[in-house]
Parts: sequence; structure tokens; C-alpha cells
Amino acid sequence: MGRIQLKSVTKKFGDVEVIPPLDLTIQDGEFTVFVGPSGCGKSTLLRLIAGLEDITSGNIDIDGADATDVPPAKRGLAMVFQSYALYPHMTVRKNIAFPLRMAKLDQAEIDRRVEGAADVLNLTDYLDRRPGQLSGGQRQRVAIGRAIVREPAAFLFDEPLSNLDAALRVGMRLEISELHKRLATTMIYVTHDQVEAMTMADKIVVLQAGVIEQVGSPLELYKTPRNLFVAGFIGSPKMNFIAGEEAAKHDAHTIGVRPEHLEVSDSSGTWSGVVGVSEHLGSDTFFHIHETGLADTITVRAGGEVGFNHGDRIYLTPRADVIHRFDAKGLRIE
Ligand SMILES: Nc1ncnc2c1ncn2[C@@H]1O[C@H](COP(=O)(O)OP(=O)(O)O)[C@@H](O)[C@H]1O
Ligand SMILES: [Mg+2]
Repeated sequence: MGRIQLKSVTKKFGDVEVIPPLDLTIQDGEFTVFVGPSGCGKSTLLRLIAGLEDITSGNIDIDGADATDVPPAKRGLAMVFQSYALYPHMTVRKNIAFPLRMAKLDQAEIDRRVEGAADVLNLTDYLDRRPGQLSGGQRQRVAIGRAIVREPAAFLFDEPLSNLDAALRVGMRLEISELHKRLATTMIYVTHDQVEAMTMADKIVVLQAGVIEQVGSPLELYKTPRNLFVAGFIGSPKMNFIAGEEAAKHDAHTIGVRPEHLEVSDSSGTWSGVVGVSEHLGSDTFFHIHETGLADTITVRAGGEVGFNHGDRIYLTPRADVIHRFDAKGLRIE
């Protein structure tokens, strides 16, 4: 179980309304990611769900029961933070067992749960070590283990991978996704990184200034962003936005074209421009094109084998079926 419903939830810090009335339902077993720029209210929202902050108005239901006034420890949710907060003098086994010892479970049950979690997290061989003898990724797994043994209705993750280096982050991302498949427990995961959101989520909630801009699967957000904010936030490199006459031709105030939806040619095309910086990733090349008369820079994503030089004049043709159209308010035109 782990269905979480926010009903007209608001949060003020003093006079500042950080979360205007917000409604959201997270289904049992879903992997939901809250994503948005720093300061948009992701952590606040997660802490409201956890009960670590009081909501200013509205209700939170967990599995159909009103949990608004239920203290955090009784909500059946387990939070995993960016800082692992492990006890340095305790072994991995004791660290993982800690919440169960606090809850005074009997020793056989504690051992069963700790060994089960260690197995799921590949920590069995490390149970007698101390945190100082572990890598960053292993420490993060111990912190997750401590959440797993509580057998929560839902896991709440607040940017748990931000302290890890890039390669480890990719590895842990996969591990958490696999863990979700194995446990099939509701997970809410907060990140400012849209790649993490796209790769991990069943459902993404895009937030800006405490407001939900869109809720949908990764591909829904990629294919049909509701507005300019979501269009610009989801996808890397960012969508190109073109206003003015060129957009008017498409009956729009602004059109959006993703870098991967521009065909490049050295001889002909709809638009033309001059190559500025090229970024060679091996598999792909990103070209930053200037002097198009469309926008300061148009970014193109081409194959790794495509080679243009700085200063070359090239031609661009957008794929007609994937041009996004937006009105003067920045809302998607279907
Ligand atoms: N305890 C607090 N007191 C006052 N303002 C806060 C407090 N916690 C967060 N805020 C403000 O609420 C907004 C959202 O913060 P936060 O939820 O931490 O954003 P995010 O996690 O998306 O970066 C920010 O403007 C932040 O300054
Ligand atoms: Mg935060």
C-alpha cells in the first residue's frame, strides 16, 4: 500500500506562500519524480508528505485515511536524504538495524529484515564494516537499507545522489530503479536533474515556484509539453524557441524545435546559419548555430560522424511532424 493524495495543500513560511493550493495523487507502487529548478518547493512538498513540516491548509491522505495530523513516525513513510547521516561508530548491520532497534522489534525479526535488505542492496559482505570503510555509493545503499527494513508504505528520496560523482550517480540511478521493480513500493524522488527524472520516473511532476506545471510520463512530457516552461525544462540539449514571423507562419506565437529534430545539410534547407561552437560527444555532436535570424543560437543535435567547421554556413530543416506550437501565453496549441 502507498497511495498518497494531496488535496488543496498549501504551505506558507511566515507570509510567503511557497506552495499555492496544490492537488496531486500518487498511485500505489508508482515511481513519481518531483523535478524543477532549485527553490521551486520540491523538498518542501516532500517534507509536507513526510510530516516533517506542517501544512498551512488542505489535507494529505495516505491509503485513503487522513494523515494530515499524523506525526511523521506514524505515517509509515521512510525518507532518504542527500547526506546519508550514518552513525560512523556503528557497523553497517547496526546502522541498518537502527530504526528497528528503536522500534524494539525482536532480534530474530531484526536479523531477518537486515539480511533481506543487505541481500537486495548487495551489502551482505559489508555488514561488519563501518561507514568509513565504504565507498560513497555503498554508504548511500546503507542509508537506503535503513529505509527498506522499516517496510514503509512509500519511500521518499530527496536528491539522494547529488553528493556522488557522475559515474556513480548513473550506477545508483539504475540500482534505485531496479530496487523499485523488486519492491514495487511507492517511491517519491526529488531531483533538479531532468535526466534523472526522465530515466527513473513512471510519473514526473514538473514544478515551478510551487506550482505543478505538468504531470505525465517521461514521454508524454517530451512529446507534448503543456507550456514553454516544461518544453524548455525537459529534454537535453534544450528545445529551440523561435518567435516572430517564422512562428507566425505556423499560426503560433512561438514555435519549439528540439535539437534532435533538425536535419542538417551543407547545401540546402529551410533555414540557414553559421556554425559556432561544436561539442563532440562521440555518439552525437551538438552544433550551436548563429546568424539564423531566428534566435541568438539554434542548437542542433547531429550524429557523431557529422563534421562542420567553425564558421561554415549550413542549412537546417525542422521535422514538420514534431514542431511544437505555443500561444502568446506560452501554452501549447494542439
Ligand atoms: N524553513 C523555511 N523557512 C523559510 N523559507 C523556506 C524554508 N524552507 C524552504 N523555504 C523556501 O521555500 C522555497 C522552496 O524551498 P525548497 O522546497 O527547499 O526548494 P527545492 O527543494 O525545490 O530547492 C524556497 O524559496 C525556500 O527559500
Ligand atoms: Mg531541495
